[in-house]
Amino acid sequence: MAVQCPSERLVPMQHLSALRVEDAERVTYPIPANVHAETVTSVRHYTDRLFSFRITRPQSFRFRSGEFVMIGLPNAEKPVFRAYSIASPAWDDEIEFFSIKVPDGPLTSHLQKIVAGDTVLMRQKSTGTLVTDALTSGKRLFMISTGTGIAPFASLIRDPETFEKFEHVVLTHTCRDHAELAYGVELVEQLTNDPLIGELVAGRVTLYSTTTREITPRMGRITRLIENGRFYSDLGIDALDPWNDRVMICGSMHMLQDVKALVEKLGFEEGSHSRPASFVVERAFVG
Ligand SMILES: Cc1cc2nc3c(=O)[nH]c(=O)nc-3n(C[C@H](O)[C@H](O)[C@H](O)COP(=O)(O)OP(=O)(O)OC[C@H]3O[C@@H](n4cnc5c(N)ncnc54)[C@H](O)[C@@H]3O)c2cc1C
Ligand SMILES: NC(=O)c1ccc[n+]([C@@H]2O[C@H](COP(=O)([O-])OP(=O)(O)OC[C@H]3O[C@@H](n4cnc5c(N)ncnc54)[C@H](OP(=O)(O)O)[C@@H]3O)[C@@H](O)[C@H]2O)c1
Repeated sequence: MAVQCPSERLVPMQHLSALRVEDAERVTYPIPANVHAETVTSVRHYTDRLFSFRITRPQSFRFRSGEFVMIGLPNAEKPVFRAYSIASPAWDDEIEFFSIKVPDGPLTSHLQKIVAGDTVLMRQKSTGTLVTDALTSGKRLFMISTGTGIAPFASLIRDPETFEKFEHVVLTHTCRDHAELAYGVELVEQLTNDPLIGELVAGRVTLYSTTTREITPRMGRITRLIENGRFYSDLGIDALDPWNDRVMICGSMHMLQDVKALVEKLGFEEGSHSRPASFVVERAFVG
């Protein structure tokens, strides 16, 4: 992916205590121990509820595409940390996140105001179940997401390893409104034009976006669209089949429960690192 801004740190990490150099009057706090302090390189606002941002990547930080990490801001003695799926692939020089803006949210009420040059804190260890290692091999990989649940798939779909393991990837993204689908649409457009991975993924990625509140040509919850067959007929593909297909699911608790029940009814089995199987799930948020 194109690097849009310089990625050098402003000051050495141990002495880093201000959000921005020009905000010298702002109250400063020490950086907690065992936490990376990274510089924001770019921010992109999609709607009044959604934005993405990129930060510098510490050289020592290793993760697997699809994992999440805890992030925070240096704005308190004991900063609030929240789980965030890493949206960039494991090979990227920077780390990307795709975020909600919760008006009174302890983290995102502040996080939504970051600009390039600000500092974001990131814990040192990533984890998560939405990794291809938790799945047995298959032909098609279905990534089913709602809202910010698309974030881990933005990582996996840009990772060549995903395409070594699967012949075709179908990414579904369902949101309330059309504007909330933009991140996924741009992701797939950029993927096919990407000099590193574009050729590898050509003809092997399908995006299926739907809305549930705003009227658009393609509407409905993904659960209903799978159950009534519209998903398959819209894409002209065979129905989900546990022998050939693998499924990854990321969304709200209710969405996870419903999609999980649906695929289990079709014969899919939940996998984990220690016991890979035919589907995996992860919450996009708590509550
Ligand atoms: C494994 C995991 C991965 C996550 N990955 C991401 C991610 O990539 N991007 C992201 O924006 N959030 C993600 N979250 C949610 C994130 O941890 C925070 O909840 C979110 O950033 C809001 O933080 P907050 O402190 O402002 O509000 P919180 O107090 O954490 O949340 C307040 C309320 O806002 C709602 N809410 C929180 N997060 C979301 C969301 N993502 N979408 C819709 N409603 C939400 C819920 O109703 C919640 O009760 C993830 C959560 C988990 C468990
Ligand atoms: N202040 C605001 O303007 C505003 C706007 C939107 C949301 N919110 C709040 O933000 C929170 C999260 O909203 P969100 O839109 O990001 O996430 P969400 O409520 O999880 O909805 C995201 C998408 O998932 C769909 N969905 C929900 N439950 C599902 C299920 N069981 N199976 C399949 N699909 C399902 C939704 O369809 P449906 O539309 O059919 O539910 C929607 O299209 C909500 O709790 C809400 O209170 C606030």
